[in-house]
Amino acid sequence: MRTAVALFACLALLLSPAPAPAEGPQATYVLRVPAPKDDSAQRLLRLGYDVLEQRDGDDLFVVGDPKTSQKLRADGFPSTVETAMPPSQRTPRSLEDATYYGGYRTITAQFAHLNEVAEAHPDLATVVDYGDSWRKTQGSGGYDLKALCITRKSPGDCALSPTAPKPRLFVMGQLHAREITTGDMAWRFIDDLVGSDLTAMLSDLEVWVVPIANPDGVEIVESGGDSPVLQRKNANGTCTSGSRGVDLNRNAGSHWGEVGSSTNKCSETYRGTRADSEVEVQALESLWRKLYRDTRAPGDTAAASADTTGAVISMHSYGNYVLFPWGWSTQKTGNDAALRKIANDMAALSGYTAGQPGEVLYNASGATDDWVYDDLGVPSFVWEIGAGSGRCGGFLPPFSCQKDVHWPKVRPMLVSAMNAAKRPY
Ligand code: ARG
Ligand code: ZN
Repeated sequence: MRTAVALFACLALLLSPAPAPAEGPQATYVLRVPAPKDDSAQRLLRLGYDVLEQRDGDDLFVVGDPKTSQKLRADGFPSTVETAMPPSQRTPRSLEDATYYGGYRTITAQFAHLNEVAEAHPDLATVVDYGDSWRKTQGSGGYDLKALCITRKSPGDCALSPTAPKPRLFVMGQLHAREITTGDMAWRFIDDLVGSDLTAMLSDLEVWVVPIANPDGVEIVESGGDSPVLQRKNANGTCTSGSRGVDLNRNAGSHWGEVGSSTNKCSETYRGTRADSEVEVQALESLWRKLYRDTRAPGDTAAASADTTGAVISMHSYGNYVLFPWGWSTQKTGNDAALRKIANDMAALSGYTAGQPGEVLYNASGATDDWVYDDLGVPSFVWEIGAGSGRCGGFLPPFSCQKDVHWPKVRPMLVSAMNAAKRPY
């Protein structure tokens, strides 16, 4: 009898689907998935997998839980485990901590930093509130959206007008919340602009820094404390299996709703219900329209005029890339030669690879970088900071990597962007 029961239990185990995962935190896997830069890459994105911003030859990388590799196989994508991360221990930081995960500055500390720098350097820095995060618009917590304008101030500087006198470099971090390296790069850039040889460059240039473009998302990330939560999107929405929110880099009104974005609200690349539906994206676009003249005729092929000034950098991680438009297609822009040259110059300083997203990674539509060039003609770039693996690779490098590894590569690229912004074409 006992044997029969045991046998039955065994059979049941073999025949039934995998048991529902136990309650509580699960391991996270990075899976290596063959997906060449053709239809298969786009199909993988369309299916809504959490595809990392990294490519190795014909392989892309997908983040998932213990079930993801079975799902991938069922969808025709065999995968291998690249890295396995133990379940997060959830040691939430205490609210008054100014840092988390070994030194990364909290949102509160980042925004306080903007005020401190502006108070200490009234001749150089001005804080600009350019909108509200989604949670703030709902009256449930949330944040102001904040930028710092940094320049050797003269009359008319930092005005919310596209006819302001100086060319403008705009740099933002953490549009994707979990890409925590980028907020730290913004912090260091601000400090150097007001306290190093970079200050001398501010007599004929304005620099706008948004350290955290998606604070609601970052609040979720830092709630994990020493085990940051890998939230990419904003906080608008609900989802029972997967992650909530809209991918702010798929929501912008440039070729919105096309390749590389998902209609599934739990997908990491959920595009939202319509172009520019998200307040964080609306606020950025309206700020950019106040900062830059429109120098490009509509359409996919027109070139921006040679007197265009400015540049926009959206910092992401990871993959060691310098990307430029178009990102919705490998079709070339009307300013391809100039964009490519600027990107190559930046990449030469960091050892990164330059290219259009579809040339080196995958096509994706509705990104803010495409929007900036599409709507205004301003050259725009995405930096995918950091390697995919190794001690300082991935989304969550030990904090010491920021100073030792990432900043020494990003700083020269920022200086080159400062110069390029004066007359890019
Ligand atoms: N890898 C980033 C993302 O997935 C940036 C995409 C590059 N830009 C683009 N327009 N495709 O959001
Ligand atoms: Zn990103």
